Amino acid sequence: MLPSLITLSRAARLVGVKRGTLQKQIQRGELRTFEGELLLADLLHAYPQTEIEDTTMLERVGSIKEQAVNKIIRADEEQPDVDTLSARIYSLGRELARERQAARRSGTIIDELKDRINEVSADADEKTRAAAFSTLRESFFRSLEAIEPADNSTGFIAREAFLRVMAAQVRILPSGHEFFIEGSDSILEAGLRGGLALNYGCSNGNCGLCKCKVLSGEVKKISTHDYAFSETEKALGYILACANTAVTDVVLEADEANSSSDIPLQQIEVKVRKVEPVNDRVLILHARTPRTRRLRFLAGQYLALQTDSGAAQNCSIASCPCDDMNLQFHIPVVSGNPFSGKVAALRPNSNLTLHGPRGNFILDEDSPRSLAFVAVNTGFGPVKSLIEHAMALDIAEQLRLYWITTPGNSHYLGNLCRSWDDALDNFHYRALKAGDNATVESLLATIIGELDDITSLDFYACMPAPLLDILQAKLLAREVLPGQIRLEQLRENLPVD
Ligand code: FES
Repeated sequence: MLPSLITLSRAARLVGVKRGTLQKQIQRGELRTFEGELLLADLLHAYPQTEIEDTTMLERVGSIKEQAVNKIIRADEEQPDVDTLSARIYSLGRELARERQAARRSGTIIDELKDRINEVSADADEKTRAAAFSTLRESFFRSLEAIEPADNSTGFIAREAFLRVMAAQVRILPSGHEFFIEGSDSILEAGLRGGLALNYGCSNGNCGLCKCKVLSGEVKKISTHDYAFSETEKALGYILACANTAVTDVVLEADEANSSSDIPLQQIEVKVRKVEPVNDRVLILHARTPRTRRLRFLAGQYLALQTDSGAAQNCSIASCPCDDMNLQFHIPVVSGNPFSGKVAALRPNSNLTLHGPRGNFILDEDSPRSLAFVAVNTGFGPVKSLIEHAMALDIAEQLRLYWITTPGNSHYLGNLCRSWDDALDNFHYRALKAGDNATVESLLATIIGELDDITSLDFYACMPAPLLDILQAKLLAREVLPGQIRLEQLRENLPVD
């Protein structure tokens, strides 16, 4: 029996397209929705060729996201654990049993009706009555023929059931954000990986900050925790997101950060994983937080980095909040500034102290517009964080990146940008070099001049302050609204907050 309604996120995974594609079809009236969910029969009609193996696009996007967040996959984390799988299969089994029972009842009713109609038709002696029954008989058999299932509905049902066993969907209220839980992730881990700024602290069941309320669906505790709920909280269905996973699709009431003011300032000791001199102008610093003391931040924010020797500098975070333990910073090597020299001398396992995060160079997640990112040199760092976050959220229809380098600098992560461009249909990358024939200012003018749809874009740019002023003036002159422009100056040589 074909389930009648399906959420937009599940439908997108089922047929292998992006949510935005389905949203457009809904706007065009090609798909109908009922209380925000799609009619599965409509979906089958719109995507009749859906095959169970047709997951290429999803896999490509998935692998890009994995690379984007530097996720370290352990073999035992690739699949849901046996208990979770059993619970999901049990839940589907109950649903199947209910549907079979309903199908058997319908079959019995149909058989009885068929016999009755035949009997009455045979016995009828009044002309009008006979005619009426004859009409009824014909329409009944016509209806029976009409409810024959579509040829490919079986594959559709199998695929839908398979996806439900492999991943449960979580919907967060009041925001309405959705994400899927794959493997043996906790609700918190999957939510962060999905780009949500959920409220949390210790990640290990002590602080209670990730407390949320189960409104519907079934969850399962995957780790013990010290945090104690009151009897009232237990009765109301409160759980810890860091200690539970979802068995079935669930709806939770949970707090999320909406702005930088919702993120607390933190001081965290981290360990250096490695320092990569990618060229003679840039160091990429990889650091790791303790498992129980991760950094909560929004994509695009910065913090003060302090070495054991006391040297400190504000640095933009170049990684995604979806991986809150593994942090990345792109440190410009600036002559006369001793900080980059101190960073270059750091060895694996050296200590660093983080103070922050700060800053409002963050994604406007409620905007329906496509996104354009413009970076100059290491301005790519915070832009990379925003792009990875936008990919995790999967909200923007189009993502465009323009990365300009000045003489002596290089597109030090150009391969990464090209791999995004190759793998994602909605990502476009352009590398530009300023030099003898073009200044940064003229390149900015070229970029803006080529954008026909400029007023339908949100702009995020990171570069030295004078260039930001030039870019902003050019965008405003093309009637881009101030609310569509977010600017961040390069944080090299700025005093620590
Ligand atoms: S994050 Fe501290 S208890 Fe879950």
